[in-house]
Amino acid sequence: MTYDETLHLLEKYNQEHLLKFYNELDEHQKENLLNQISKIDFEYEKSLYENKDDISIIDNDIAPIQVISKEKIDTEKYDRIGEEYIKTGKLAVCSMAGGQGTRLGFDGPKGCYILDLDKPTSIFETIVKKLQEAYDKYNVCIYWYIMTSNQNHNETVGFFEQNNYFGYDKNHIIFFNQGELPLLDIRGKIALRDKANIFMAPDGNGGIFRALKNENIIEHMKNNNIKYLAVGNVDNILINMIDSTILGLMVDEQKDLASKSFMKPTPQGKWGVFCKKNGKPQVIEYIETPKELIEARNENNELLYGDAHFGCNYFDIDLLERISTEKLPMHAACKKNSILENSGEYDFSNTYKFEAFIFDSFEKANDVLIYRVKKDEEFAPIKNKEGDESPETAVELYKKFYGI
Ligand code: UTP
Repeated sequence: MTYDETLHLLEKYNQEHLLKFYNELDEHQKENLLNQISKIDFEYEKSLYENKDDISIIDNDIAPIQVISKEKIDTEKYDRIGEEYIKTGKLAVCSMAGGQGTRLGFDGPKGCYILDLDKPTSIFETIVKKLQEAYDKYNVCIYWYIMTSNQNHNETVGFFEQNNYFGYDKNHIIFFNQGELPLLDIRGKIALRDKANIFMAPDGNGGIFRALKNENIIEHMKNNNIKYLAVGNVDNILINMIDSTILGLMVDEQKDLASKSFMKPTPQGKWGVFCKKNGKPQVIEYIETPKELIEARNENNELLYGDAHFGCNYFDIDLLERISTEKLPMHAACKKNSILENSGEYDFSNTYKFEAFIFDSFEKANDVLIYRVKKDEEFAPIKNKEGDESPETAVELYKKFYGI
């Protein structure tokens, strides 16, 4: 688009401030800014802003969901089925590593964070350890897809190159980039990071589906005869994605989605929990959950809404493909960011960041399995710099689990 065409478009949507500093830019920056603007879907941005307060569980029919507990099943039968799928390369894993890790405050991709284990080990390396174990056990090199964002892609890839892919076959590690959306200020104006750049942010972990399609990962999976994808948060250092039992269960019961949970130790645990919303599987966030639901118990005194979602999900490829063509709802988070004001000064202001959540895809599955595991065996998250869910607590849990 030319300058005039761009200005015309911006005027239509009251966003002409994006060109306020255009005349101060060099030719390359000018072209680059026009290019960034041309990629924005202004109609979509407008609807995001107008609907930003719409997501609420009030008015929805919420009911408990059925859960299968690892403790209560004959795992041997399912392991046999799952192992056959793993050995024949039908399972791949995917780490979602495109997040900004704001709470951790680490200057770099979260996966590159170095942990104080028996020897200094990055988060990514803990995943390689699991892949290597699977290689030794099943004699198969499992494909590992890693979702990055524009902000951390080069650094992430560089980290693997510098470390020689931690000894894993580099042809089996595939990076792909998730989408991004502009930040909006509280009046709905698109934010500038500086005079030459729109302030973009990754579009949430629910952006994975679109990215898998756009970056040809689904195609790659098909070409390699992969039928199931285990998708996990990068920041859980006890995550167990290569799990023959849940995979066997999923195959045996012909589920197209399986999701792990753990039982919250107390009702006040702040994780999102599984439920049925209007008859469909969903996760409701703690802050959205009415108090009477948080504390409700069944006849065995178990929490009715106590199964926490912790970001370890298995999709069959047909479901992935279907979701990748549909739009997920967008959640607005209000966060402070340093944005360039029209005055030319930077201001640390409230901005809206729009994110899709992976669990909003669950309602699109034909049949879902919720599989409860033990929290101490599979969950050691790194969210905060200090205190709960910090590197210190995660390392403690990790060492306890592995006896190191
Ligand atoms: P969180 O929602 O905890 O976000 O991500 P975060 O970016 O790690 O941390 P904060 O909230 O900024 O402090 C859960 C998982 O989803 C991934 C993260 O990398 C993490 O593995 N994620 C999140 C993405 O891959 N992309 C996103 O846009 C957001």
